[in-house]
Amino acid sequence: MAPTVLITGASSGIGKATALLFQQKGWQVAATMRRPEAATDLAALPNVRCVALDVGDRPSIEQAVQATLEAFGDLDVVVNNAGFAVIGPLEAASEEDLQRQFDTNVYGVIRVMQAVLPHFRDRRRGTIINVSSVGGRLAFPVYSLYHGTKWAVEGISESAQFELRPFNIRVRLVEPGAIRTDFYGRSQTPMQKEGLTAYADFTTKVLARIGEVEATAPGPEVVAQTIYQAATDKGDRLRYGVGNGVEPLLLARRLLPSSWFVEMVRRLLT
Ligand SMILES: NC(=O)c1ccc[n+]([C@@H]2O[C@H](COP(=O)([O-])OP(=O)(O)OC[C@H]3O[C@@H](n4cnc5c(N)ncnc54)[C@H](OP(=O)(O)O)[C@@H]3O)[C@@H](O)[C@H]2O)c1
Repeated sequence: MAPTVLITGASSGIGKATALLFQQKGWQVAATMRRPEAATDLAALPNVRCVALDVGDRPSIEQAVQATLEAFGDLDVVVNNAGFAVIGPLEAASEEDLQRQFDTNVYGVIRVMQAVLPHFRDRRRGTIINVSSVGGRLAFPVYSLYHGTKWAVEGISESAQFELRPFNIRVRLVEPGAIRTDFYGRSQTPMQKEGLTAYADFTTKVLARIGEVEATAPGPEVVAQTIYQAATDKGDRLRYGVGNGVEPLLLARRLLPSSWFVEMVRRLLT
């Protein structure tokens, strides 16, 4: 029987490209999303089911896992991809910004892991791929909450892999750099606090520099390829960087003293 993958946030960008690649590779694909009725192109493909799943809603996650098992008979790999960013200075973050950012990017990942783990433990096999970011290993300005979520996903994944290894369950972290998707449009919510203008020039300058990087970034297909590699690798590798300049950036983070690295980012982006 062909293996099965469940992907969150498969309506666009990296999630959709991943659904298409796994389908082309002959997998059975549960492409989950908040509004599956809109995904007519994916739904038309053989061996693809578009299933409702909102990572903020635990019952919808459990129903989606159940529907996948009923449709395909098994589940081998889960890709935790759904995510978005609130952007702007930390001081501008509202209670709602905090809640939404961590609920989707961190609690959502945990909820999905918890929903599939009983099944993976029973069959003593499975792979969980958490789409983090190069921003889970380092930090840029005006993305403080987003970085907080991705650093959290890194720590949660690195810790959980110890307890899951005895059940033959692998955890992988995929860490993209800038990738051209809706992430820089509809998936970024500016944080705004009435009367707070002190950071406006700084924020505008940083976002302009990041916009330049995004303009030359690769498409989501490169990340889909890395996710496929992470799904099919046999070993215990935990982290997979992907994107323009990601490996040298991560090497610099590892080798340079923190103060040098931070100064480098300051010069590049501010
Ligand atoms: N693009 C980059 O430069 C980049 C770099 C590093 C990491 N990443 C990460 O890659 C992942 C995918 O982003 P992308 O670049 O492909 O952007 P994207 O095209 O905007 O995709 C984001 C996806 O997340 C979904 N989503 C958001 N909240 C959700 C929720 N509560 N429940 C279920 N799905 C939800 C969106 O669904 P709707 O259609 O319903 O909104 C959409 O499918 C994210 O985790 C992001 O942090 C992206």
